[in-house]
Amino acid sequence: MDLDQLAALRTPEGSAALAAATEVAGGDPLAAAAALRSTGVPPGLAAAALTQAELRRRAVGKFGPEADGMFLTRPGLEQATRRVVADRRAARLRAAGVRTLADLGCGLGADALAAARAGIRVYGVEADPLTAAMAAANAEAAGLAELFTVECGDATSFDVSRVDGVFCDPARRRAGTGRRIFDPNSYSPPWDFVTGLAERVPRTVVKVAPGLDHALIPAGAEAEWVSVDGDLVEAALWCGALAEVPRRATLLRCKEGPPVNAFGRGGAPCYHPGAEQLTGPGTAEAPVGPVRRFLYDPDPAVVRAHLVAELAADLDATLADPSIAYLYADTATPTPYGRCLEVIDVLPFSLKRLRALLRERGVGRVEILKRGSALEPDQLRRDLRLAGALAASLVLTRVAGAPTALVCRPVTGSHGRWIEP
Ligand SMILES: C[S@@+](CC[C@H](N)C(=O)[O-])C[C@H]1O[C@@H](n2cnc3c(N)ncnc32)[C@H](O)[C@@H]1O
Repeated sequence: MDLDQLAALRTPEGSAALAAATEVAGGDPLAAAAALRSTGVPPGLAAAALTQAELRRRAVGKFGPEADGMFLTRPGLEQATRRVVADRRAARLRAAGVRTLADLGCGLGADALAAARAGIRVYGVEADPLTAAMAAANAEAAGLAELFTVECGDATSFDVSRVDGVFCDPARRRAGTGRRIFDPNSYSPPWDFVTGLAERVPRTVVKVAPGLDHALIPAGAEAEWVSVDGDLVEAALWCGALAEVPRRATLLRCKEGPPVNAFGRGGAPCYHPGAEQLTGPGTAEAPVGPVRRFLYDPDPAVVRAHLVAELAADLDATLADPSIAYLYADTATPTPYGRCLEVIDVLPFSLKRLRALLRERGVGRVEILKRGSALEPDQLRRDLRLAGALAASLVLTRVAGAPTALVCRPVTGSHGRWIEP
């Protein structure tokens, strides 16, 4: 896709080709291209329309129905913030008094559009000309062109004195190869520039990889880890006046459907504005004790934010190994911050003994959870040669340093039960 093809897609003929491509996208690509060309669409336009239609189809999971009007590139879509996360960030910026925002490296505009929807005037800067043109087209398609404008250029030259807030989501993939960058010093714009923004603009937010080393968190900044439906999706550094607490874990739910278990939340509509948030200094250590009747597997945002001790205090729970983030308690307390399992058997890890135990229990199906174990779940499942009518949760971990297997059942209400297969 290039700028000429984008321009062609935005003509009435291009819109018609895109509408036709949307009808046939998702099936056999050759048949779709032939179907489009048979209606008189020139081959170049047909190919561009089909690529867009396919990307839009994939983008629905991230952006919801609005994906249908967006212009996308594959790398831009991969790096874009999902809407539920962008909307929350925008609402928090707005509540903190941000009225004008620079989005330095705005990509396709997912964050900028959310801020504009929240009523913030956004100045986007994007180095890649096609991505910048698409961001502008996305602003227009969303009816937000007056609130979100895009200039193509280097974000490091933007005059930040024009705005009262800055957002930066630096590129963490190499242009061309798309390979992930793990060293923040190789981000673009560069890490020094990004962290230096906080000294120039009192309200600065930086989106970073969830694996960020805590040692890189600037002094005084709030580091927030965000999960969506239990998947860790990003971290953000809230700097200056925006920092409220040292560490925060934010859990968002997007999927419809029944709860995973009675102690997790579920069924919330997509883009639900509510979120569960756990906060703290991120330095406390949870007490250590024996394995107890109930095991909690904390949400990855809680673990990455180093807030397991805060969760342990809420649940009156302890760790069974100081370096492993499973918590154990005598009672099952409803919490959105982790899954709760009832521990049925505890045994020092031995394949032979575990196989015999699961046979005896009639377990033919296991989900495998692990922390602190190098065992490969699929291989273990094969080695266990399970046979039986029941299902169980198998937890592979360490207890006081020793490799241990716990056979568990999910807490589904006041009475735990084996799940029927
Ligand atoms: C991670 S993406 C931004 C995604 C965006 N937040 C979203 O949700 O759609 C980073 C973007 O920064 C752009 N970029 C990298 N270095 C830049 C620079 N020095 N100036 C302007 N843009 C830059 C890249 O081209 C890329 O599109």
